[in-house]
Amino acid sequence: MTVSFELTARDGAARTGVIRTTRGDVRTPAFMPVGTAATVKAMMPNSVRQTGADILLGNTYHLMLRPGAERIARLGGLHRFMNWERPILTDSGGFQVMSLAGLRKLSEHGVTFKSHVDGSRHELTPERSMEIQRLLGSDIVMCFDECPALPASDDEVARAMRLSMRWAARSKEAFGDRPGHALFGIMQGGVNRDLREESAEALVNIGFDGYAVGGLAVGEGQAAMFDVLDYAPGFLPEDKPRYLMGVGKPDDIVGAVKRGIDMMDCVLPSRSGRTGQVFTRRGQINIKNARHQDDPRPLDEDCTCPACRNYSRAYLHHVFRSQEIISSMLLTWHNLHYYQEIMEAMRQAIAEGRFDAWEAAFHEMRAEGDI
Ligand code: GUN
Ligand code: ZN
Repeated sequence: MTVSFELTARDGAARTGVIRTTRGDVRTPAFMPVGTAATVKAMMPNSVRQTGADILLGNTYHLMLRPGAERIARLGGLHRFMNWERPILTDSGGFQVMSLAGLRKLSEHGVTFKSHVDGSRHELTPERSMEIQRLLGSDIVMCFDECPALPASDDEVARAMRLSMRWAARSKEAFGDRPGHALFGIMQGGVNRDLREESAEALVNIGFDGYAVGGLAVGEGQAAMFDVLDYAPGFLPEDKPRYLMGVGKPDDIVGAVKRGIDMMDCVLPSRSGRTGQVFTRRGQINIKNARHQDDPRPLDEDCTCPACRNYSRAYLHHVFRSQEIISSMLLTWHNLHYYQEIMEAMRQAIAEGRFDAWEAAFHEMRAEGDI
């Protein structure tokens, strides 16, 4: 069995459908919680599933450094290692090397770098990234790419994009023929329309099972990101999944789906859960704020997550201030639940041809501001 994608409805540029894998279906548009170090921090895997997640994201960069890809393979692969039996998409390491590692040396061959964990030296190439993602047992493998931080000159963005396209061809060659596993290409090109089109053409000529839009949410701002998303998804094949990497806030996600994106991932809901930032239908709450200390209401009256069903804002404020572990657990659960609720609502709205009305209501409820 191969990984397949079936589109079931469209509404404007927005789409809904399903990616079928040997480890289960992924309903799109899909939000992928981030499980960088073989755990979605503060969550048990069955809790992540209960929030409605169909697929997790894992990281080549972190897992190669600790505990090591060969070790995970010996222990039966990443799914078994972390007790998540559903699909996993792994990022290729290119982006994380650039944002986390020390002393990087980039060449045509790949990147050498120093580990942020213990300072040891490592190398990532398209071939090694494909090998690591195979050892992990990833269901959806990402090409090895270079993502420049914005703002960067057009020359620099073009150089990184063209290198990433040569690495995409090497990634495809090294990936080989692996039934049941998918390989996604990654479009680069910054905020330059011609470079985005050139990148998309190069990827489509190589041929992938899905296509990511990379190189966004790296400092360009929402308006510039939406400008790119107004045209970039249109350069990609209609019949393959489109994945926007590393995005974002709830309104970024809604705007991306409106423009034809099918998959997203972001650390925001889980990381914010640990720093006391809560996302709700009515906007953001900082649970650290003293105004919550006597508040008997839940975070969101209508939310069905365990944090909202069983606890007051006063309790959540108290455990956050006391640095109790349950604070991270409850706030992460709520945030992931809220993100998945948005995804489900968008899937239904697209299927029923009322995405614009749903989006208007989404923005209106947040604008009321009474939280
Ligand atoms: N995560 C967020 N953006 C990117 C990107 O451009 N490339 C990769 N590999 N991962 C990302
Ligand atoms: Zn909740």
